[in-house]
Amino acid sequence: MSLRKEMDTMSSTSVSPLSSTPSTQAPGAGAQPSRLSLQCASIAPDTTAIRSLDWDRSRFDIEFGLRNGTTYNAFLIRGERTALVDTSHAKFRDSWLPLLEGQIDPTAIDHLIVSHTEPDHSGLIGDLIDRHPDIEIVGSKVAIQFLQDQVHRPFRSRAVKSGEELDLGTNPESGVGHRFSFLSAPNLHWPDTIFSFDHGTGILYTCDAFGLHYCSEDLFDVDPGAIAPDFRFYYDCLMAPNARSVLQALKRMDGLPEITTIAVGHGPLLREHLPLWIGDYRDWSGQRSAGEAYAAVCYISQYGFCDRLSQAIAHGVGKASGQVQLVDLRATDPQELAALIGEASAVVVPTWPASPDADLQKAIGTLLAALHPKQWVGCYDAFGGNDEPIDTLAGQLRNLGQKWAFEPLRIRQVPSGADYQRCEEAGTDLGQLLTREKTIAAMKALDGDLDKALGRLSGGLYIVTARQQDEAGVRSGAMVASWVSQASFEPPGLTVAVAKDRAIEALMQVGDRFVLNVLREDNHQPLLRHFLRRFPPGADRFAGVNTLEGAAAGGPVLGDALAFLGCRVLQRMEGPDHWIIYAVVEEGNVADTTAATAVHHRKVGNHY
Ligand code: FEO
Repeated sequence: MSLRKEMDTMSSTSVSPLSSTPSTQAPGAGAQPSRLSLQCASIAPDTTAIRSLDWDRSRFDIEFGLRNGTTYNAFLIRGERTALVDTSHAKFRDSWLPLLEGQIDPTAIDHLIVSHTEPDHSGLIGDLIDRHPDIEIVGSKVAIQFLQDQVHRPFRSRAVKSGEELDLGTNPESGVGHRFSFLSAPNLHWPDTIFSFDHGTGILYTCDAFGLHYCSEDLFDVDPGAIAPDFRFYYDCLMAPNARSVLQALKRMDGLPEITTIAVGHGPLLREHLPLWIGDYRDWSGQRSAGEAYAAVCYISQYGFCDRLSQAIAHGVGKASGQVQLVDLRATDPQELAALIGEASAVVVPTWPASPDADLQKAIGTLLAALHPKQWVGCYDAFGGNDEPIDTLAGQLRNLGQKWAFEPLRIRQVPSGADYQRCEEAGTDLGQLLTREKTIAAMKALDGDLDKALGRLSGGLYIVTARQQDEAGVRSGAMVASWVSQASFEPPGLTVAVAKDRAIEALMQVGDRFVLNVLREDNHQPLLRHFLRRFPPGADRFAGVNTLEGAAAGGPVLGDALAFLGCRVLQRMEGPDHWIIYAVVEEGNVADTTAATAVHHRKVGNHY
């Protein structure tokens, strides 16, 4: 059976990346050290998914925290004319282009729909233009502008916005018509994002939105339990900072006929449990944007490390339950920019190029004019190569009489894991400022008797430590814990409740290792005092502490602790304000078998 014939059966089978069947290819010459493979399958009439499987991707970007690799998905739709939705990451050049050419002569592709221009999906657009200079590139106006700077080749283009259509006509074999409607989805998660809906198949192509970084051979969401943590983590990192934009996009989606499948750009396609995933986005975004105070975290798209750093700050704000709005200074309409800045309770600003173009200069002027003295502010180095010095920016903000949420985040090199951690922690400090009044009110609202009764629950006293290292550097953290309980005998396991705004929470994802240091009753005060201090963002929690480095995998063992347990996270359960983390204990030791564990007795149950 020919490949084309196989696909016509509309099978949605996923093919093993290591198999030698025609629809899968191993990486070609010049392969990367990481495992890369391709998957190609029919997902609906006249519709083929081409998925680039990046099994080992483990960048230290915040959204890759679960380290399950990722996929970059593209789609070929054949009506009377043919469209390709997105391409792939440039690292797949040697295998993806031959696979595409096995499917179709590139000169027969009439339109390339660009969902947005981030290089993990647009990395091969230039190659495609080289093969077919007349291909029409369809995208938002901003995407077309971004692409001009990216591909450095002339190309034909059509800018589209919400409500506009592209009709591919009817496929002569299947008799199915493929008419696309476009929906603007700015900030999900780039300013240039559009969704595309094929009326012929009911497939909505959303690229990053609804995606997840999860590499597996499952073409569809057949195992929701397996992918749910990554779906949530991805949402928290990339979508939550734009919860208002998510709600806007959902509203536009409500106006569509029945959606059968969400064809995402990362991870398995969503078809089997569609209401669950859409419901999650609706609920989470509704919760996120329900309050009033928010932080406007500004960035400049495609400048330095602005996008990643701003996401880290925004993620930190979200961890403290603060609301956040990412604002692209290059792509936000001046009126909207003035409103977003003026209404924000806090504003975070990046350094900008020393010689900004006229549009950016105008945006900066609008931003500065919209600030007012009651707001919290922060600033960070974009590290774009030729930035205005951060001290100049800080001075300008100081002259406006702003309140500082955190010290300027100086970045003097390509950002490392520690820099992203510092940004995230600064964001959390800011988030706590935004939610302070709400938190105090919630504490006061608890019933007095209930509060006192709850306070009679007691726990031991522990210090959780974690340290991770990868190609982007070292990140470490520590926190005092008392909500710890043994939770299984075989394998030995325990749970730790970790408040959502704890910096160390980022180092306690599924698969991560950490160390639980048990404090001793007769000598716990010095360690307790040290770790209860409020540390500035990125500060070394272990400076001046006696640690036994290398004694356990996952984090420092404290020399003055009574015992330690080396743990690996197996599961996380989400509570309203804490994560309940279940971990297996893989190693442990006791320093003094005659000493007792320190115990934490409280008077009330509405705080620690
Ligand atoms: Fe998956 Fe925004 O690129």
